Amino acid sequence: MPPARHDCLVVCTPGLETVLHGELTALGVRTATPTRGGVAVALTERQLYAVNLWARTATRVLVRIGSFPARTFAELEDGAATLAWHRYLGGDRAPVFRVSASASRLYHSGAIAQRLAAACGRPPGLPGDIDAGTGQLVVVRLHRNRCTVSVDSSGAALHRRGWRLATAKAPLRETLAAALLLAAGWDGTTPLVDPFCGSGTIPIEAALLARDLAPGLGRGFAFQHWGGFRPGTWASVMGEARRRARPAAEVALVASDRDEGAVTATRANAERAGVLADVEVSRRTVSDVVPPAGTGPGWLLTNPPYGSRVGGGDLRNLHARLGRVARERLPGWRVGLLVVDPRLAGHTGLALHEALRTTNGGIDVRLLVTTPA
Ligand SMILES: C[S@@+](CC[C@H](N)C(=O)[O-])C[C@H]1O[C@@H](n2cnc3c(N)ncnc32)[C@H](O)[C@@H]1O
Repeated sequence: MPPARHDCLVVCTPGLETVLHGELTALGVRTATPTRGGVAVALTERQLYAVNLWARTATRVLVRIGSFPARTFAELEDGAATLAWHRYLGGDRAPVFRVSASASRLYHSGAIAQRLAAACGRPPGLPGDIDAGTGQLVVVRLHRNRCTVSVDSSGAALHRRGWRLATAKAPLRETLAAALLLAAGWDGTTPLVDPFCGSGTIPIEAALLARDLAPGLGRGFAFQHWGGFRPGTWASVMGEARRRARPAAEVALVASDRDEGAVTATRANAERAGVLADVEVSRRTVSDVVPPAGTGPGWLLTNPPYGSRVGGGDLRNLHARLGRVARERLPGWRVGLLVVDPRLAGHTGLALHEALRTTNGGIDVRLLVTTPA
């Protein structure tokens, strides 16, 4: 019998734990405990599928399948032999072991992986097999001579929704774009403007939220290949997601960029995500941004360019222009900026405070927001 609840770690980029915790609570998951880089939860089989499909800010969901003492290789082999590998390793995937060891007598990750591969009766795969869809990630952690084995239920990282093929310069992770929207408290009922849209990650994630579209509808997951996969439960989770989806966003979502390639990328990505009709995309510089006609105040939520220089003036001028546009053309609107250097944001002249601090592509970033008028 499979366990009634899986002991799981929903992994996220450090800094997103609180937002992810809020998402899991909204999905009906109780007893969720944030820890650094994730949220620990006990999930039913149905919840495990639903969290993979719905969590907008999660990177992956790991399921702990066992923990045992492993002071020697003999103990490691004995413990590994007790695990229900058949439930998680289906016919077509090679186990890819990611081993870490600390404060333990066993430390040679290759030798540890070899013993575990022997226990599950499968030759190990290579790290590239996970994204290629031919490998099953198994995370092995030795700490103080105790071995904990977890299997990954997600497969390719969850920010890979399947729609972003075209990228402009410095794209945001989809999970981070969703986190900005959720941390700002944007609930899909007020208009949203992104004047530096790049490949369109923020407005496309906004459209998915506004339409209650599950971010994972267009992709597959590792658990679908497990020996214990329950197709009926999955069909029911997917059926509910399809029924929930609204046919169109009921608010204006406006994306623009001065770069033609970025505008083309945004349109192509929005089309693949099935939200092209929901996002108004145009080529224009930030100085030409106007609020969508006939709508009340909403959010200007954006990720301005960073780096030493951008064409047409330096970044201080660009931020000053952005601040002027916000004050003069979008009075009463809230502003959220994802920035690398908060001093640059100071040139907007807006009163901003920090709402989130995390990393994007290894760079420290912060979401700064204005307070409501
Ligand atoms: C950091 S990128 C935004 C990345 C985007 N969030 C994504 O996920 O792809 C900044 C964007 O600002 C655009 N940009 C730079 N100067 C601009 C200006 N004056 N007016 C409008 N867009 C500008 C660049 O073309 C670039 O696409």
